[in-house]
Amino acid sequence: MLNNKKILVGITGGIAAYKTIELIRHFKKANAEVRVVLTPAAEAFVTPLTLQAISANAVSNSLLDPQAELAMGHIELAKWADLVVIAPASADFIARLRAGMANDLLSTLCLATASPILLAPAMNQQMFKQIATQENLAVLANRGVQMIGPNSGFQACGDVGAGRMSEASEIFQAVCEHFGYSQDLQDLTVTITAGPTREAIDPVRYISNHSSGKMGFAIANAFAQRGAKVNLIAGPVNLVTPDKVNRIDVKSAREMAQQAVEFAQKSSIFIGCAAVADYRMAEVASQKIKKTDGSDELILKLVKNPDIIASVANLSQNRPFTVGFAAETQDVAHYAKDKLKRKNLDLICANDVSGGQVFGQDQNSLQLFWQNSEKILPLADKTKLAETLAEEIITHYRSKNKENK
Ligand code: PMT
Repeated sequence: MLNNKKILVGITGGIAAYKTIELIRHFKKANAEVRVVLTPAAEAFVTPLTLQAISANAVSNSLLDPQAELAMGHIELAKWADLVVIAPASADFIARLRAGMANDLLSTLCLATASPILLAPAMNQQMFKQIATQENLAVLANRGVQMIGPNSGFQACGDVGAGRMSEASEIFQAVCEHFGYSQDLQDLTVTITAGPTREAIDPVRYISNHSSGKMGFAIANAFAQRGAKVNLIAGPVNLVTPDKVNRIDVKSAREMAQQAVEFAQKSSIFIGCAAVADYRMAEVASQKIKKTDGSDELILKLVKNPDIIASVANLSQNRPFTVGFAAETQDVAHYAKDKLKRKNLDLICANDVSGGQVFGQDQNSLQLFWQNSEKILPLADKTKLAETLAEEIITHYRSKNKENK
């Protein structure tokens, strides 16, 4: 989500510094590059070694360190950052920042940087209430310094009031929003199926297809990035689970059906992107099937699998907004429209899979069909395409909800 964004995390002296370790973990999981700068007081609360391990970069703590100035000196560090996040920001640091002081590495960096600064203040409630602190914060806000928190509640010193540093997840969200990633789908639960299913023939063989799961995983990621709770029911694939996604691994269509119907009923939106095997063995052989010398043929008897998306779309209670996919090699629009009607879907996303152009590839294009309209999403990386598709789904989901009210 924060792919290659360069975030300089400044930590000042305060008990809340322990929460910053969690914050850095969030940044790293979202693929940001993180460098940490500690004030001398911060070192009483967290160690450079821990922060070096979590951020995967050397930690800076001294303005006049000849070794550090040889490598990434303080001016370089100030230029490097896309965003400076100071968490916790103590009353003392806020006062020094307002005064424009440069008497340690962090305050010098703040003076030397042209990048935006986000402060997460944390201090005793009385210190926070003081006119001096309030004035300092107001002046900084006027200069364009961004703030998050503090929260109210019990404090480490025993007081109750405003002064607790915002939670790591709240600061992470503020940073995502700063970079234009909105967390507007926090009230939504979305369930997505992805990848192939595997239908056993005997203990060593199975029937499956070429789905890699890339399309479905990209959709899961697109929704999770915007704060939705995402359940991803995945067939056997070789992909890393996107951040903040609840992944449920399954193998066969029947296993997928069981999980999908259960999760769908607790979801606002269901998206069937999995390439589900339409048929399975009537009976799975208990031992490896042997080659017989007498015949050149082996006939396998197959029976129909449950149609997962049709079961979801026909739920009599708690039916989610239901989106299907159609993988076609000919007459794409015709077959897709037929599936839209037959399976009782709200939307179908058709892709032309002829000539191996979608399965396992990094790019795709889609033709979307609703009951009364259609739209083309042109060829793009599956990640980008999934973001556009998520936006389309949300728009139609919201307008359907409005109509039903
Ligand atoms: O995984 P990738 O390599 O990235 O490839 C992406 C993809 C090609 C798998 C994906 O874009 C796609 O098209 N997925 C649907 C594939 C498919 O099975 O299409 P279908 O036309 O056979 O099925 C129509 C719809 O019914 C699909 O939503 C499917 O999930 C669903 N279905 C099908 C059979 C079944 N028994 N139960 C179902 O729910």
